[in-house]
Amino acid sequence: MFTQKPIILAPLAGLSDRPFRRLCRTFGADLAVSEMISAKGLVYGDRKSRILLAPDVSDKPYWAQIFGSDPEIIREAAQIALETGADLIDINMGCPVRKVVKTGAGAALLKEPELAQAIMRTLNRAPAIPYTVKTRSGWDAQEIVLEQFIKMAANHNAKALICHPCTAKMMFSGRADWQQLTDAAQNANLPIIGSGDINDPQTAIKALSRPGLAGIMLGRGTLGRPWIFREIKELLQNGREWSPDPELKRKTILKHGNLLRDEYGEKTGLLFYRKHLAWYSKGLTGAAAFRHHLFTLNSFAELENAINDLFSDSAQP
Ligand SMILES: Cc1cc2nc3c(=O)[nH]c(=O)nc-3n(C[C@H](O)[C@H](O)[C@H](O)COP(=O)(O)O)c2cc1C
Repeated sequence: MFTQKPIILAPLAGLSDRPFRRLCRTFGADLAVSEMISAKGLVYGDRKSRILLAPDVSDKPYWAQIFGSDPEIIREAAQIALETGADLIDINMGCPVRKVVKTGAGAALLKEPELAQAIMRTLNRAPAIPYTVKTRSGWDAQEIVLEQFIKMAANHNAKALICHPCTAKMMFSGRADWQQLTDAAQNANLPIIGSGDINDPQTAIKALSRPGLAGIMLGRGTLGRPWIFREIKELLQNGREWSPDPELKRKTILKHGNLLRDEYGEKTGLLFYRKHLAWYSKGLTGAAAFRHHLFTLNSFAELENAINDLFSDSAQP
């Protein structure tokens, strides 16, 4: 799965849902990771967790992410995910958000390497679960555990380790330390995938060329720009810069709306759509007025009209 240096949509809670994964895959994302799903939620039959897990036919192989802190519950949840259609399970060992950390999951595991190892061991128990680990470099700058986690993951047959080379304490500010990740990747005995601050095709290509890296993940850089995967591939494979014309942008934005309406229905679909529209409109002529207007519109039909106006011949170059 990681032989061709895949370019991957990162897991984004509240955002990398089925519609967005499908959209990014149509623009050439080689893989996409689901939003994080609670292991406990899956095991105890929580409806919302089961909905988050639902696979999409166009998103194969399907890589589902689980968070939790109890090895047996995580294993059971992984089994449920495999039975539901996932092909690969990612374990979240990097989320710094308080709600997750206070349950002992996500980045809290960076402070509990023994427990992180027990989770990996349990997943590797026969019959082994195909799994990856997504992590950060450590809890804080004084406790960098990246190399330790790489060793543990390799020893327990993880298929890959993904790292956002920041500390948990940094939350979502500061820059990813790609040199630190490259250094750690050189000695790794499993594929290492890098995530963090890849927001344009040039940076993506630079990251892909780093020695020891088996692939890259893009998160925030895809918001309002799902076509970035095609931008990267055109540059990588054909050596040419490509960007979508306003008509392709307009059609993509409308398609995203249709996918959201099909997935969630009119009311909830609109909430998600407005969020994405704020990103889509960034940098366009008339964006500020458009965003202001967005919150006064209460149906997909009205939003579509506003989008068409935004992209009308006279509005965009
Ligand atoms: C809004 C948001 C939600 C995220 N949700 C998850 C998640 O559910 N699981 C996870 O492992 N990482 C999550 N991340 C981290 C991203 O997957 C990624 O590693 C990080 O944002 C760095 O990449 P970027 O600079 O390309 O965004 C999230 C990040 C953001 C900004």
